[in-house]
Amino acid sequence: MRYIPTSNLVSGMALGQDLYDGSGRLLLAKHLLLSDEYISNLEFLGFPGLYIDDEFTRGIEIQEVLSPQVKRQALEAVHGLFSFEPDKKNLPISEVKLRMTVESVVDDIINSGDIMNNMMEIRDYDNYIYHHSVSVGTLAVMVGSRYGLSKPQLFELTAAGMLHDIGKKFLDINIANGEWPLKGEEREAYKRHPRLGSEFLKSSYQFPSRVYTGVLMHHEWYNGQGYPMGSSGEDIPLYARIIKLVDCYDSMVSNRPKRKNVPPSDAIEYLMARSGTEFDPKLVDIFIRKIAVYPVGCEVELSNGKHAVVAKNFNDFVLRPLVKVVETGELLNLRDDPAARSITIGRTVM
Ligand SMILES: [Fe+2]
Repeated sequence: MRYIPTSNLVSGMALGQDLYDGSGRLLLAKHLLLSDEYISNLEFLGFPGLYIDDEFTRGIEIQEVLSPQVKRQALEAVHGLFSFEPDKKNLPISEVKLRMTVESVVDDIINSGDIMNNMMEIRDYDNYIYHHSVSVGTLAVMVGSRYGLSKPQLFELTAAGMLHDIGKKFLDINIANGEWPLKGEEREAYKRHPRLGSEFLKSSYQFPSRVYTGVLMHHEWYNGQGYPMGSSGEDIPLYARIIKLVDCYDSMVSNRPKRKNVPPSDAIEYLMARSGTEFDPKLVDIFIRKIAVYPVGCEVELSNGKHAVVAKNFNDFVLRPLVKVVETGELLNLRDDPAARSITIGRTVM
């Protein structure tokens, strides 16, 4: 399986994974042969790229952090939650269903062991918020579990992560999806979403209070320059510090109108540069060990000018994966092969 940017897709390529819309419905099934019409639709919808199966990358498999079934269930729940109408005061989704979904996400990640997030984000513009919410819950639990949180704590963290931006439902749509950076009054209105979300959840569900403070404080900065409270360091609750970090990462690697996605390597560089100012340095250290800098299936440019597809990542050697050279088909182990010592990865081809 390999990742191909949408602009490089050609008809006849076989889809390597199931593709879902924002409500968890199957959009295109694995093994489907892409036609020109499918490709132009995917381009129109804002999909940055897709995984395809081809002869060259046969045997290169990617373990997804969430199983497709749990991912679908989580998307459906988040979609349901975001579909409520604030004026009608109707409860969008029952607490039992929400709890079951969060538990499934936590169990799925615990059961998959200490795995790395090795995939590029495959999502369209319109459904960004649903995929993003599920992704923030998923990444948060990966960090929390490495941090040593108990299962009940992981449950609370995941709930806060999946619900962190629900307050955007109360904003004017043009502000919620506005062109970044927002200025003046629009920016001030935007900054109300953590409080609005936390208040809505508190009045609708009976979660432990730590879930609501996680939502309320997910835009605080480690150095005190965030909002809404301006708290700093460990005065910011742990869940909020984790969500702040993974929220930022996931936003950067997601394709959105007027904000093109960046490769994981660039997003990780940003997190490292802002460690100690925007983000908790201990959490940055944990997170960068859970994220593949060069995800499996991605094409990279090597320092010798050749191109290669990442075949396998090694824990703690994230910059030196096993790669398959496009020009020769040779497998090159950048970690162990003495002949490859001088070769480095220059960039991800996107
Ligand atoms: Fe937010």
